Amino acid sequence: MISVNNGKHLPEVYLCIMDFLELVNTRQSCRSYNPAQTVEMEKIERCIEAARLAPSACNAQPWKFIVVDEPELKKKVARAADASLLGMNRFTKDSPVLVVVVRESANLTSKLGTLLKDKPYPLMDVGIAVEHFCLQATCEGLGTCIMGWFDEKKVKELLGIPVKKRAELIISVGYPASDEIRKKIRKPVEEIRSYNAY
Ligand SMILES: Cc1cc2nc3c(=O)[nH]c(=O)nc-3n(C[C@H](O)[C@H](O)[C@H](O)COP(=O)(O)O)c2cc1C
Repeated sequence: MISVNNGKHLPEVYLCIMDFLELVNTRQSCRSYNPAQTVEMEKIERCIEAARLAPSACNAQPWKFIVVDEPELKKKVARAADASLLGMNRFTKDSPVLVVVVRESANLTSKLGTLLKDKPYPLMDVGIAVEHFCLQATCEGLGTCIMGWFDEKKVKELLGIPVKKRAELIISVGYPASDEIRKKIRKPVEEIRSYNAY
């Protein structure tokens, strides 16, 4: 147990915050999977639960998660995500599970807010829920990669997603081929944070 303040134990909530930073550091885009190691569906269910509990503007929850684990179908979705010319997302073929995230219609108040404030709340909501999913996956020892670059039309056709809806992201899920945690490449804090003014 971590202790500070002259030996006084930190309240439970602070301990959680420290653990959380470690979790955030551990999550990384995994682009190399062990294709032979199948992912337990109860782990996927817990990741979905973490996403389900995410906050959203006006609590609209404008998302649906399609878990693709049927091998033949998964192969086809992986092909639609593989942008060979750019050398992107080739790893999807080895990822045993792909989760396609559909942006659903928001409720009236969220729609109104989007309109009046000119802010795409549902897109923000989907992003937050996807990160909840990925953080839970990290807790489960799984690797994930969020992908925004894929043949959306093809993916929608394969999964029977209505034409009007958007498949915003795909999350690859599987056991990482390596347990190396890379150093994060991020802007320095001075560049992204200020106090009391821009
Ligand atoms: C909205 C979004 C779309 C992304 N699309 C892709 C993608 O199509 N292919 C890919 O390999 N990584 C993709 N990434 C992963 C980012 O490249 C990655 O998060 C970033 O470089 C930081 O690295 P890290 O996730 O390992 O910390 C995407 C991430 C986000 C949040």
